[in-house]
Amino acid sequence: PRGSRQDAVHAIVVGSGIAGLTVALHALQHGCRVTLVTKDVLEHANTRYAQGGIAGVMFEDDRAEDHVRDTLTAGAGLSDPQAVRVLVDEGPARIRELITLGVEFDRNSEGAFVKGLEAAHSYPRILHSGGDATGTAIEKALVAQLRASSVRVIEHAFLVDLVRAGERVTGVDLLIGDPGPVAGSSDVAFRERIAADAVVLATGGAGELYAHTTNPAVATGDGIAAALRAGAEVTDLEFFQFHPTVLEGKSGAAGLAGKAVAAVSEGSAAETAGGGSFLVSEAVRGEGATLIDETGRRFAFDAHPDGELAPRDVVARAIARQMEAQDGRPVFLDATHLRATPEAVAEFLARRFPTIDRAVRERGLDWSREPIPVTPAAHYLMGGVTTDLAGRTSLRGLYAVGEVARTGVHGANRLASNSLLEGAVFGARAGDAIASDAASGSWPASRDRGGPDATVTIPERVDGSRPLNTFGDDDAVPLFSRAALQELMWEDAGLVRDAAGLEHAASVLASWRAHRRAPRSEAEFEDENLLVVAGELVGAALRRRESVGAHFRRDAAAPDRPPVAAAAVLAGRVA
Ligand code: SIN
Repeated sequence: PRGSRQDAVHAIVVGSGIAGLTVALHALQHGCRVTLVTKDVLEHANTRYAQGGIAGVMFEDDRAEDHVRDTLTAGAGLSDPQAVRVLVDEGPARIRELITLGVEFDRNSEGAFVKGLEAAHSYPRILHSGGDATGTAIEKALVAQLRASSVRVIEHAFLVDLVRAGERVTGVDLLIGDPGPVAGSSDVAFRERIAADAVVLATGGAGELYAHTTNPAVATGDGIAAALRAGAEVTDLEFFQFHPTVLEGKSGAAGLAGKAVAAVSEGSAAETAGGGSFLVSEAVRGEGATLIDETGRRFAFDAHPDGELAPRDVVARAIARQMEAQDGRPVFLDATHLRATPEAVAEFLARRFPTIDRAVRERGLDWSREPIPVTPAAHYLMGGVTTDLAGRTSLRGLYAVGEVARTGVHGANRLASNSLLEGAVFGARAGDAIASDAASGSWPASRDRGGPDATVTIPERVDGSRPLNTFGDDDAVPLFSRAALQELMWEDAGLVRDAAGLEHAASVLASWRAHRRAPRSEAEFEDENLLVVAGELVGAALRRRESVGAHFRRDAAAPDRPPVAAAAVLAGRVA
């Protein structure tokens, strides 16, 4: 750290989920001057909707080797074993840090942490808070800490672009307070440029790419699009995880989303859902709930010997296949047998899953007495801005943490409850690295590649002075709307893909981009970002001619390689 406050390294963090808040607090501890910008209010990040919990080796009879192996196996052999090792080894310290900050993980009557189980974990190592409100508890504690600190916070600030000087990122262009369409599109009127020694992308994922998602409406891939435009390396976008179980019915979810936003602005505890479909945590299956088809038959064992607790991609596809066989109608999640009587089940569900229980009952369903309809929905982007083990990207001065980053821990399919952990572990590492990198002026050679990945074309920000066009004025292409993009992605680049569908998506997306007009409002900037990320995702999915993890192509076989081969070597005792 440098001497005086004014001389201190200035870091701008974009995003306010667990990763962004952790980076900010750690950089501050190292004497950095920190500005945190977020496009909504601080509390409104994807983190607050995390239900299941946070995974970590916190019990004496659990072993780090097992958490490593579970993570690598779920990742289908494409995780970076070193990154997984870091995640698992440093996870417990970060969880204890959260506890120190006031996160109260649920405990039993003896005062020990309650153990939670989710799919593809060989040990019930998930800690949860408020039953199924873990993300809310974590977000609340970190936001309180941040608000009490000297971090400068700018809310309602939308990331328009990264500022680059040569191979270095030197700041951000923001749209502060959406002024709505701006006449003439001259950008100086509504943008603010902030200079920094380090810029951290912590902007989360891109669930808004899909017609059905568990993500809140803020998840529009802004950080990935900005990184692509700046020429940073982005990888693994073809790996988008679909959660097997959301409550069926989008209209209800939209209603709940409205309530969630209202609750945030009133400063009360988090409410139920994000902007999309309502998540029913995997932890419900971890407690023994089963998946049944319309006739009441359990079908998950047809797909995998672990049945309902098979890796997430396997269960999601099994549900999609079953729905296809039922003309698109949902399957059912059955929790009615979890206790001896309906009354006991009702008491258990309300206590263990209060958030889900409320959402289910608000839809007029009684899940203690009847199975509830569920379908898969887009949930988590494994790929993103490529980083090293301290969040450094391929561009000097640019860091990425959390869902926007591709650290390598998730491979082709993320293990349940590893994402909050990743945000905490790599957020802390990036916060530490920023201070030392900027102070020493160093940037590890391996990170100093500069320029885009060979396979990525850099999408340019549209020139604001160009005449406005309307999307979709080419007759062969449907009119552009966000809903049309989401339907296209759901149909052609969703759970099950093939070359014909992906090529169709690529051509529609290219046409929409060719006809794009200069964005004039935050929503239009978001649309452009979604188009950029969708185009890269579809391109990556076309290039990967194999079925692996969450990327499943009906026209390509699974690769002929053992799922954790390379990993086992590095992890030593793992194999
Ligand atoms: C869930 O609670 O099922 C989601 C947990 C996760 O995505 O890690």
